[in-house]
Amino acid sequence: MSKILVTGGAGFIGSHTVVELQNSGYDVVVLDNLSNSSEKSLDRVAKITGKEVPFYKADIRDREALEKIFSKEEIGAVIHFAGLKAVGESVEKPWEYYDNNITGTLTLVDVMRKHGCKNIIFSSSATVYGNPAFIPITEECPKGQCTNPYGWTKSMLEQILSDIQKADNEWNVILLRYFNPIGAHKSGTIGENPSGIPNNLMPFITQVAVGKRDHLNVFGNDYDTPDGTGVRDYIHVVDLAIGHVKALKKIEEKAGLKIYNLGTGHGYSVLDIVKNFEEANGVKIPYEIQARRPGDIATCYADASLAKKELGWEAKYGIREMCEDSWRWQKNNPEGY
Ligand code: NAD
Ligand code: UFG
Repeated sequence: MSKILVTGGAGFIGSHTVVELQNSGYDVVVLDNLSNSSEKSLDRVAKITGKEVPFYKADIRDREALEKIFSKEEIGAVIHFAGLKAVGESVEKPWEYYDNNITGTLTLVDVMRKHGCKNIIFSSSATVYGNPAFIPITEECPKGQCTNPYGWTKSMLEQILSDIQKADNEWNVILLRYFNPIGAHKSGTIGENPSGIPNNLMPFITQVAVGKRDHLNVFGNDYDTPDGTGVRDYIHVVDLAIGHVKALKKIEEKAGLKIYNLGTGHGYSVLDIVKNFEEANGVKIPYEIQARRPGDIATCYADASLAKKELGWEAKYGIREMCEDSWRWQKNNPEGY
């Protein structure tokens, strides 16, 4: 059987996906430049699954390194997580984001086609909907204006991969639009490991809980939502990982070009998350209301029924487990890996 190359496989979503792939019997190879991750995550994956994770430390912009991997390993499909993802940093360093994410993906895809590997699952984001035209968001919802270069890299890469598939229908391209991944593997040994001050809500909350930060800043309580704070569709990272295994089965059936939302279909406000986290874990999360964060929207949650219908996938974990599992990881690993 050919192998699955997971780019960015040492990262948060990638490491959880490697677990689910190995547990489903796939032969996995990981490529990562470790710019935002630690190789230790892969040792821990191996402990969970009981299988070694073959690893190449390489950059997706490094054509020679990719050539070597594709010549040595028989790669049947690529799950492409590698990319820079910090929204604020992308505003400061647009060139670096376009180069890493777009040049990197173009190089990867070129080497893939030269080696006859034309199957790719791409990590996209609900950010491509901009300020969504309607809620819940279906895949039919028009793409919108992104508020930062990171978002544009996702939107542009969706277009690039779609055009490549349209020009050559040997390609199978699945674009997965993730909503807000949180949680961690039940073992508490792998999880999200942000460097510096976390941008995202859940890692900030767990750092408050573990005593690294004294309070949470809530960005705005004057949105048009039930309690005034922003509403998002939080999804357990293990559910998200399983979504990739289902997408791979779809690729094996010759998917052509497909786009799926991966979310739960439920919206929770910032204060809902604080409350659920406190109740699930018995830890107090002090917070202060601050001004809105530029670029944020009021409400974003998915209609994920297409993924259910066509992939047979739906999210299983609820908000309580997401809060428990995020906390177990942080508590056991206060300094990350
Ligand atoms: P992450 O930073 O933990 O993982 C990304 C991995 O890619 C890291 O291990 C990093 O070292 C690696 N990488 C970055 N640039 C690379 C390059 N040029 N060559 C090789 N490796 C490189 O992030 P994540 O949360 O696991 O996200 C995975 C993917 O999903 C990303 O593409 C991200 O944009 C996308 N996504 C994430 C979210 C989210 O909220 N976490 C939401 C929507 C989409
Ligand atoms: N929030 C706070 N305080 C914080 C962090 C966040 O109040 O310290 C609020 C935000 O204002 C927002 C909600 O919590 O209302 C969620 O914010 P996140 O930063 O966790 O997530 P976003 O929805 O802004 O964005 C995330 C990823 C993007 C991705 C998008 C997809 O960061 O990369 O989900 O929906 F594109």
